[in-house]
Amino acid sequence: MELKITCIPGDGIGPEIVAQAKRVLDAVAEKYGHSMQYTDILMGGASIDVHGVPLTDEAVETAKSADAVLMGSIGGDTTTSPWYKLPPNLRPEAGLLGIRKALNLFANLRPAVLYEELAGACPLKTEISEKGFDMLIMRELTGGLYFGERKTVTENGLRKAIDTLTYDESEIRRIAVKGFDIARKRKKKVTSVDKANVLDSSRLWRAVVEEVAKDYPDVTLEHMLVDNCAMQLVKDPAQFDVILTENMFGDILSDEASMVTGSIGMLASASLNDTKFGLYEPSHGSAPDIAGKDLANPIATILSASMMLRYSFDLDKEADAIDAAVKQVLTDGYRTGDIMSAGCEQVGCQKMGDLIVERIK
Ligand code: IPM
Ligand code: MG
Repeated sequence: MELKITCIPGDGIGPEIVAQAKRVLDAVAEKYGHSMQYTDILMGGASIDVHGVPLTDEAVETAKSADAVLMGSIGGDTTTSPWYKLPPNLRPEAGLLGIRKALNLFANLRPAVLYEELAGACPLKTEISEKGFDMLIMRELTGGLYFGERKTVTENGLRKAIDTLTYDESEIRRIAVKGFDIARKRKKKVTSVDKANVLDSSRLWRAVVEEVAKDYPDVTLEHMLVDNCAMQLVKDPAQFDVILTENMFGDILSDEASMVTGSIGMLASASLNDTKFGLYEPSHGSAPDIAGKDLANPIATILSASMMLRYSFDLDKEADAIDAAVKQVLTDGYRTGDIMSAGCEQVGCQKMGDLIVERIK
């Protein structure tokens, strides 16, 4: 099979981790007889430095012409980088929001799994972590507060800022369908998270999710308020299978969920539209403090490449091979600095790539 992939190395540690993911993909291609065709585009700070804007129309067109997009990370240090002196619509993050919208990537899948091998890094009490957990946050990605009308005005000498949280029922329905579809392939439970005790948008969310649930009698649905969900994630994460939620709540809860795994450097994500097309990226950020030092953990990006093979190309066997190689490297005791523990061997980004490639061949 010929796979046309657009890569966005991006900023910070992005270029190093994407380089390792490409090597792993190449190893898979060689073993299973596929051919990978990569085209790089600039986004975020890297694009600002060259084009003065975080995302160009040409870059969007290149991404659209591929079968899938593999991304590293974008953004820099918000207190020191000159990118953050620019107006908000020209900063690195605007590139990411722009590409999500331009490619209609409304469904953001963020799995948070406690790896047995890394259970020691979990910050929760042993009696909680020993139960293990494996959840998937299905975050709506192209609506809500992120894309509602926004402005800052001065009224009667007072500065006033307005952000708008809007959802129409079709936006809620399509993400709910994705949530239930994936729950069906997992533990068949959806926890829909909202703030229906306060927000109209949440009351509509709840009503539409109930309607969609009727088509999935085999999937259990429960509703949970977002503040309670934040608490339950640290109290009893094992209760969750699929968490279905709007954009902003999903942004916050997915950081919390990944932190309780103790290994954010391991967590992949996929952003999908209603075709097979998707953008795949690690859940972590660009870590500018360790960029270019060969210290970054490439595993989240490598696992994102695995998600790409699974969701965009239906190459399950190949994706399984990547997941198994990652697990084997951990079992063999190799760790990057972020997941290091006593008795293991610490390796850099490149070496971690080598070790995973070796286990695929
Ligand atoms: C994420 C990030 C982005 C978001 C930022 C960089 C705009 O935090 O992907 O979770 O808020 O969506
Ligand atoms: Mg975030």
